[in-house]
Amino acid sequence: DMGGHDTYMHKEIHEQADAVDRALRGRIDDRFSTVHLGGLNLDARDARAVRRVKILGCGTSYHAGQIGAQMIEELARIPSDAEPASEFRYRNPVVDPDTLYIAVSQSGETYDVLAAVQELKRKGARVLGLVNVVGSAIARETDGGIYVHAGPEVCVVSTKCFTNMVVSFGLLALHLGRIRDLSVADGKRIIEGLRKLPAQISEILANEAEIEKLAGEYADAKSMMFIGRVRGYPVAREASLKLKEVSYIHAEAYPASELKHGPLALIEPAMPTVAIVPDDELLEKNRAALEEIKARSGRILAVAHQVQEKADHTIVVPKNEDELDPILMGIPLQLLAYYTAKAMGRDIDKPRNLAKSVTVE
Ligand code: F6R
Repeated sequence: DMGGHDTYMHKEIHEQADAVDRALRGRIDDRFSTVHLGGLNLDARDARAVRRVKILGCGTSYHAGQIGAQMIEELARIPSDAEPASEFRYRNPVVDPDTLYIAVSQSGETYDVLAAVQELKRKGARVLGLVNVVGSAIARETDGGIYVHAGPEVCVVSTKCFTNMVVSFGLLALHLGRIRDLSVADGKRIIEGLRKLPAQISEILANEAEIEKLAGEYADAKSMMFIGRVRGYPVAREASLKLKEVSYIHAEAYPASELKHGPLALIEPAMPTVAIVPDDELLEKNRAALEEIKARSGRILAVAHQVQEKADHTIVVPKNEDELDPILMGIPLQLLAYYTAKAMGRDIDKPRNLAKSVTVE
């Protein structure tokens, strides 16, 4: 039942404020400025002993993991990174007893992720799951974890589950941070930020008509560039994937800082750029990248906290805490992908060549 929406993708994009609310419910502990994650199965002593975090997933879940790794490194000061589960498995990685492994999956059935979990378990590693489908294979095979509580996701491309995964990583980063060196004041600040998310998501979605118009402006592109830096880079990667999947427009994502090392050669009016420009310590650097693109007559659509003069269009999103901004900045770009695909008459809920859950290698 699509409840008045024309596609599940549209419905699921609009369910995100409620979904995030569900991910937060019952988990916040104001007294200690932390969160409770019931199924984590990692006591404080274990959490303190973690020396590294390695996050494994595929596609959109891998992108959620990239944001998650940054959140954990920033808030808990544990060296963290994300890697595609399929690549990890085949490069005979060093499995380290002091590393906490986290498998991320909507379906909980993705073969490459499951096989990576099994290989890690066989070698004695501690593996947590960050999963949407309750009781799925990955949920069962991990030592504990976090359910992301996005609710059923029917559209082949992931939207609300991605958002809830990133929120869940925020909770985990806060939890690990407060066991280690994150102060009470910073814990409070992050909790306040988390609580603001559902209303801010509704605010972004209320801007839908403007995003539909913008999709019309850029739907003629043969190819699009997505750029961002540090916190914004995985947001750019995910937005680029979403556009490809549902519209079949070619898109590339680069760190804005890498443009001058090659991809700037592609910039011309027929190759528009979507730039993630948060109001954080990299704002001036991001603005400089916009200038470089403008100087090559590139069209620019910015997603930012304030109107960007160098951009042809800016989608202004509400500001949260710097660490949590990535949760919000991708949401208008889900709508951009949706409206672009719709204008092109694509089969949005079932893009060609794709399946909802990839249970083969
Ligand atoms: C993208 C998409 C895929 C999945 C990937 C992993 O919109 O849906 O990239 O994210 O196949 O699937 P899960 O999360 O079920 O392991």
